[in-house]
Amino acid sequence: MSTALITGANRGIGLEFARQLARAGWRVLATCRNPERADALRRLAAESGQVVEVHTLDTGDPQSIGALSAAVGGEAIDLLVCNAGVSLMKPALITGREGQRIQDADDALWFETYRTNAIGPLRVAAAFADRVAASERRLMAFLSTHMSVAGQNRSGAYYMYRASKAALNIIVKNLSIELAPRGVTCIMFHPGWVRTDMGGRNADVSPENSVSGMLGILLDAKLPKKLQFLDYQGEIVPW
Ligand SMILES: NC(=O)c1ccc[n+]([C@@H]2O[C@H](COP(=O)([O-])OP(=O)(O)OC[C@H]3O[C@@H](n4cnc5c(N)ncnc54)[C@H](OP(=O)(O)O)[C@@H]3O)[C@@H](O)[C@H]2O)c1
Repeated sequence: MSTALITGANRGIGLEFARQLARAGWRVLATCRNPERADALRRLAAESGQVVEVHTLDTGDPQSIGALSAAVGGEAIDLLVCNAGVSLMKPALITGREGQRIQDADDALWFETYRTNAIGPLRVAAAFADRVAASERRLMAFLSTHMSVAGQNRSGAYYMYRASKAALNIIVKNLSIELAPRGVTCIMFHPGWVRTDMGGRNADVSPENSVSGMLGILLDAKLPKKLQFLDYQGEIVPW
């Protein structure tokens, strides 16, 4: 049985990864900040007959990562999905009303965004790299976005989100170089514009289609063993 570890698995895209992997017969270590409030995930775990295990993980907290690492022990991880992310101060611009502009944003918001979207995935990947390298599939997936790509930015705004995900991209590039000799393949995804709390109601892709697309790519036996930035339909994101 293959094992996946997912961050931010209590809602949105992360929860859908847990659902579909469990349905496909995977053991799923589904992590979230507050298991006691993760009703949908706990329901999935209860119905899964111990295939889905819920664990606490705040990806922004090194102690939390350490505690999860100890709880998982030496178990091999076939697929690590670094999914947890935030988008704060979305519409803020340098123009606009004083106090509501991007340059007025508290440093803590910037740091929270970078910590969640870039530093957290790096720390989680580092903590589990040995266990991914020891697995059969040796896969790491990172939820990025086409909004991180300068050439695709036609609308501006989202300063924090775009910048932090661009930082994630270069971190994943580094990880891929460091981990390639150990047979680990890193994939960055643009999941589409997905109907979740972050994507909103008007988004055009369902979590089901987004995740089934990404899993189809990840679990394809012909997946090249090299870093790629792909959308959920397998199109290359030029970055
Ligand atoms: N939806 C889209 O259209 C879209 C497009 C491009 C990329 N993405 C990326 O896809 C990923 C998932 O997005 P989504 O749409 O599913 O977002 P979402 O519905 O807002 O869910 C975000 C998830 O991340 C978790 N999270 C945030 N900070 C965390 C932390 N410090 N530790 C652990 N978990 C944390 C949240 O947990 P809590 O419930 O505890 O807050 C939640 O489970 C994100 O990385 C996002 O940037 C989404």
